[in-house]
Amino acid sequence: MGVAANLAGVRERIAQACGRAGRDPASVKLVAVSKVQPVDAIREALEAGQRAFGENYAQELREKADAIGEPSGIEWHFLGALQTNKVKMVVGKVAMVHTCDRPSLAQELNKRAAALGTVQRVLIEVNLAEEPQKGGIAPRDLGSFLDVIGKLPALRCEGFMCIPPAEEDARKHFQRLRELRDELGGAAALPELSMGMSADYEAAIEEGATLVRVGTAIFGERPAKS
Ligand SMILES: Cc1ncc(COP(=O)(O)O)c(C=O)c1O
Repeated sequence: MGVAANLAGVRERIAQACGRAGRDPASVKLVAVSKVQPVDAIREALEAGQRAFGENYAQELREKADAIGEPSGIEWHFLGALQTNKVKMVVGKVAMVHTCDRPSLAQELNKRAAALGTVQRVLIEVNLAEEPQKGGIAPRDLGSFLDVIGKLPALRCEGFMCIPPAEEDARKHFQRLRELRDELGGAAALPELSMGMSADYEAAIEEGATLVRVGTAIFGERPAKS
């Protein structure tokens, strides 16, 4: 199946999950994860009405954004581990950085956003199971990290993001992320929950996701990164 048909299928399943959860489908944003996919695949998705795209590598994001230009309404989301020396490549270019995961990164994002006279929207990546190989803030450190970000005028933290451990029931991790958000500020202060990928975005929506990050269900298997 092509990208347009895949997208239609994903949108339909999002609508059904919203129906089950009693939610308005407009409250869920589909971020099409185009990392390592060719620019032509992004163009196909654009043709089919998709506007939000997720990328994991700063250099690749910049090259693709330059190649695609600025079709009306397009927005890029940064989803990868971000080194501080690459921050300047993404600030001001992306609608949201989903992976703000340490104070030094928050400070650099703030510095670069301030220099551009902009406010960068970010999510805190939460390492729910405290997996050592993954980035993210441990749940017990979230409150103090929110305080750090709260003092940075050119950053706005809008919520949390998680990537649950592979091989585990993702739903219980989605529930936990939502509970943490409710404990630490609630939906008024932290409206966004970025959770759910191809295998589990419907469960994530049922548990409150406002951003789902879907790659292979839209674009097919990812080519090896060159
Ligand atoms: C942070 C993040 N979110 C979402 C995805 C999309 O995953 P999938 O292709 O399973 O939908 C990826 C893919 O690597 C990712 O790194």
